[in-house]
Amino acid sequence: MKISVCRKAHFNAAHRLYNPDWDMAKNHAVFGKCNNPNFHGHNYTLEVWVKGEINPETGMVIDLKLLKNLIKAEIEERFDHKNLNLDTEEFKDLNPTAENICLTIWKILRSKLDMTLELRVRLYETERNVVECNGL
Ligand code: NI
Repeated sequence: MKISVCRKAHFNAAHRLYNPDWDMAKNHAVFGKCNNPNFHGHNYTLEVWVKGEINPETGMVIDLKLLKNLIKAEIEERFDHKNLNLDTEEFKDLNPTAENICLTIWKILRSKLDMTLELRVRLYETERNVVECNGL
């Protein structure tokens, strides 16, 4: 029997969505306000879901303190209060859409978690815009 546990986190970051292969008109048509050359910010909410068997010795799937510290060290330190396009290696050449941010976070956390644990990452760019990645 597998159980899912979740740790929530927040980070604030600025970004600009654009495709360097397109002209301004096409970028504006596709990305709208998110193409603003002077960037804009979001208060991102992150949900990290970990699924696995309950360890009979601890009664836990994963120690949520450990997950909290992992998210802080690997995600918040990396992205919080950053301009994703300018300040991060991950989005120098990758459009920082919610989809790409979610996938990037999934890849980072996946590499740090025991492979017996399943990982699902959900990213809220706004209260109404949500993306999810489970690596499949
Ligand atoms: Ni945006």
